Amino acid sequence: MEVIIQPTAELAASLAARIVARELRSNPHLVLGLATGRTMERVYSCLVRMHKQEKLDFSLCRTFNLDEYVGLLPADPNSYRHYMERHLFNHVNVDPRNTYLPNGMAEGLPEECSRYEALINRFNKIDLQLLGIGKAGHIGFNEPLSALRSRTRVKALTPTTIQQNAAFFGGEQNVPRRAITMGVGTILESRWCLLLATGESKAEVIAKAVEGPITSMISATALQWHPRCTVIVDEEAASHLKEKDYYRWIFTNEPEWEQYQ
Ligand code: F6R
Repeated sequence: MEVIIQPTAELAASLAARIVARELRSNPHLVLGLATGRTMERVYSCLVRMHKQEKLDFSLCRTFNLDEYVGLLPADPNSYRHYMERHLFNHVNVDPRNTYLPNGMAEGLPEECSRYEALINRFNKIDLQLLGIGKAGHIGFNEPLSALRSRTRVKALTPTTIQQNAAFFGGEQNVPRRAITMGVGTILESRWCLLLATGESKAEVIAKAVEGPITSMISATALQWHPRCTVIVDEEAASHLKEKDYYRWIFTNEPEWEQYQ
């Protein structure tokens, strides 16, 4: 795991976007894993700007989102399909047929989860997976006690997550109770995991995810197992980390990061 601390949330998101852009330029057929949520909005707006100003080309890439609410139509403004269209898909030249999200309206939800897993495998796995982190430590919707080898499945959302997303739905009572999410095991099979967290509200959980013991209570801790995981945080989200000086030293000295300094 590598931890990169950026001075502000804007710079943290811009670094994540530059990494995506670089991967996309070096492999136009990139299979890109996407996340939703407030943190990612800045990343997508950087990518849209790069598409418009620097001709960043999405025409050959495929995208797989981590999750989707159960029971929301794609046209529902709160569905993750709608989020992706609003923040990214409608503003870049990705082929809509190459953008995949689980279908939260499927009649057979277990079959839909297996179909989604099989689809990821058909494209030879995800090259770069963007991740946010919930206050309860989830990646995707892998809520506390998610098995660290779990696959795509339906999960009940915890009260913390429901609370975190209540504002979008006009109150907790309207938040769907379940979502389809890639499993922790599915996420760990991506070739590169890029987790972005910003703001003071993520400081405590980031310290646990990066420096704490691996536990299914905080699914993000499973990323410590991943051979290539980069965590990008702003100063606020980094504020509870104990080894900040070490992370800064690595970022400054590791040749891989020279081009991003
Ligand atoms: C959403 C997702 C979630 C979010 C996380 C952080 O697709 O997978 O894990 O990334 O809940 O959400 P924000 O950025 O809104 O704090």
